[in-house]
Amino acid sequence: MIFVTGGAGFIGANFVLDWLRTSDEPVLNLDALTYAGNLENLAALQGDSRHVFVQGDICDRALIDRLFAEHRPRAIVHFAAESHVDRSIHSPASFVRTNVDGTFTLLEAARDYWSALDGEGRAAFRFLHVSTDEVYGSLGPNDPPFAETKAYEPNSPYSASKAASDHLVRAWYHTYGLPVLTTNCSNNYGPYQFPEKLIPLMIANALAGKALPVYGDGRNVRDWLYVGDHCAAIREVLARGRVGETYNVGGWNEMPNIDIVHTVCALLDELRPDAAGPHARLITYVADRPGHDRRYAIDARKIERELGWRPAETFETGIRKTIAWYLANQDWVAHVQSGAYREWLARNYGERRA
Ligand SMILES: NC(=O)c1ccc[n+]([C@@H]2O[C@H](COP(=O)([O-])OP(=O)(O)OC[C@H]3O[C@@H](n4cnc5c(N)ncnc54)[C@H](O)[C@@H]3O)[C@@H](O)[C@H]2O)c1
Repeated sequence: MIFVTGGAGFIGANFVLDWLRTSDEPVLNLDALTYAGNLENLAALQGDSRHVFVQGDICDRALIDRLFAEHRPRAIVHFAAESHVDRSIHSPASFVRTNVDGTFTLLEAARDYWSALDGEGRAAFRFLHVSTDEVYGSLGPNDPPFAETKAYEPNSPYSASKAASDHLVRAWYHTYGLPVLTTNCSNNYGPYQFPEKLIPLMIANALAGKALPVYGDGRNVRDWLYVGDHCAAIREVLARGRVGETYNVGGWNEMPNIDIVHTVCALLDELRPDAAGPHARLITYVADRPGHDRRYAIDARKIERELGWRPAETFETGIRKTIAWYLANQDWVAHVQSGAYREWLARNYGERRA
């Protein structure tokens, strides 16, 4: 069995669903079900005995020890995190707690469990830490993309907390020999993404005829990867990655935010035309995010060279699938858009004047 943390969130849920579509190896899924955790993402696994869900906190050492002892996993794939940069600016404490203390707790529990395994089990065990390209900081327009050797220069409380967790993971390998792997991935998009992030927020607002808020001048550049491709990369790294190494994962697809928004609008014009006019009429520029990194770009040659992984989707195919999914799953969106989510959006965007 593999032990997944944060498997009710966006990427974690996609990973668990893909894993059980392509393998019969059971998954132990630990998730605290914060605002970002949504069991509806895993509805397809209801009654499936290969999926064992436990609601709990990665900072709870006694719980983690018990789960390791009861389920004897061969690997842990660690997604659980506070993940939204804007939230980290408003309230950084939960980011330090979950991303730093939580990762520390998991590392310590994994180390105790792994140390007591027999020779074969010890050799096969893996701790795969899922991280982000945001730890590398911001690039100028002509800088080369982030390679694994790039110095860490995190600029937001989110990226600083993820950078700290990456350093802990690295140290547990060098100091204790824990067999770790780290992946640093660019921006993901796809089904089940919480509609506070750029692409699902734009889809939801465009369908509702609401303003499409774009930060600053909209020229911040990100690399975008379809979530299913990220999940495939993690499976490759888990199966064949070299212990102690980090692998950058990206889509070879750098785009300014405003181009993403125009692409979403154009596809919605085609798939769900609005009698009031093109969806792009709703684009509204709002005050920029403080410390907003200008550009991220990923050099994903190492994972291709060593493990043969490349994204299967282009942005054109991935974004089309994604919009089709949101159009077909409006109930999911409506359920997510209740309660805490709406309060949060009002607080975040209410303070930003056009
Ligand atoms: N979304 C992206 O574009 C992206 C890109 C690269 C890396 N990542 C990394 O991938 C991972 C998953 O990202 P995501 O977008 O799916 O995030 P998400 O916010 O959608 O999901 C995070 C999940 O972790 C759970 N969680 C939070 N705190 C917890 C705690 N203390 N104990 C147990 N569970 C807890 C939440 O309930 C949620 O289900 C994160 O580590 C993130 O840093 C994300």
